[in-house]
Amino acid sequence: MSNFSYIRGFGYYVPERAYTNADLEKFVDTTDEWITTRTGITERRIVENQTSADLAFEAAKKALEDAKMDADELTHILVATFTGDMYIPSTACLVMKRLGIKNKIPIDIGAACSGFVFAVETARAFVALNPDAKILVCGSEVVTSRVNWEDRSTCVLFGDGAGAIVVTSENSDSSAKIIDVLLSSEGEDTALLVRGGGSSCSYKMGDVVGDAHFVHMNGREIYKKAVRAMPAIAKELFAKHDITSDDIDIFIPHQANMRIIEAVGKKLNIPREKVFVNVNKFGNTSAASIPIALAEAKETGFVKKGDLTLVTTFGGGLTWGASLIQF
Ligand code: ACO
Repeated sequence: MSNFSYIRGFGYYVPERAYTNADLEKFVDTTDEWITTRTGITERRIVENQTSADLAFEAAKKALEDAKMDADELTHILVATFTGDMYIPSTACLVMKRLGIKNKIPIDIGAACSGFVFAVETARAFVALNPDAKILVCGSEVVTSRVNWEDRSTCVLFGDGAGAIVVTSENSDSSAKIIDVLLSSEGEDTALLVRGGGSSCSYKMGDVVGDAHFVHMNGREIYKKAVRAMPAIAKELFAKHDITSDDIDIFIPHQANMRIIEAVGKKLNIPREKVFVNVNKFGNTSAASIPIALAEAKETGFVKKGDLTLVTTFGGGLTWGASLIQF
């Protein structure tokens, strides 16, 4: 038995309804020109009566099909989200129910946009504890349920979606090897990116939902932190594995914003043609961004068998991380 964990299946799902920047212009004080030049986003998907568990379920079915596994073979279900259906039950419990299985270990993981990579590291730990573990790892968000549509500085940036993978200790011809994951955080700038409405904000029956319930962000500061943190942790990973950016075949960064993606790619000396981008059509889907990108990169053939792939992530907390995956 090797010490590595492998990804046996990939899947993603995005809601059907697409909103272009021109659609947003009709009810938000913004322009296509402002959004495109500052973020590279031209459209995003927005749910109609679907929840995070619904999106995760659709992505999970595809990941299980790709892995050629029955849902009942799973031992754990991890869902990274900051827009779960409810506080109780966990979204992971709801996904388990939707999959028609029971007696699994369902856990939600919260690290904002970095949540999926934190969940992958958690899955690796479970596989190390129990080599028979078969772990569904989802990133799923209905961010549009928690943006303030009157705050143009945030609402235009986000979209809804979900991605999923199955992590096991078993290698196969079609699986990808998780070579390593590095995670990091700092607790000083907790206020730069916030979705409130928790126990810091008590309310009573009949109160009107206030500003605290929605996403707030200091965009400029987040931008600066993100373009520093992601290259730094990627370089740490390169040093640990004695490689350079020349060894990277494909780079899959968190899909928050085209300018951040370009700045990080430039700092790492990774040419644009190696960088996977879908933020233009999906916006920032937070914890779903990396698993959607992994699954789409595989499905479209952007990433091929044998490609050494770098993943970087960054989110509220602040939290960030990087991973090396050998397809
Ligand atoms: N449409 C039109 N005008 C807008 C909009 C909008 N949607 N939003 C803000 N503006 C205006 C502001 O009111 C401001 O006007 P003023 O100068 O008259 O006051 C002007 O545009 C400039 O606003 P800034 O916030 O300074 O714009 P900036 O150039 O910094 O770009 C942006 C904002 C795109 C958010 C940028 O800071 C950024 O890329 N930040 C990264 C944050 C990010 O992507 N976060 C995602 C979540 S975190 C994560 O996933 C990593």
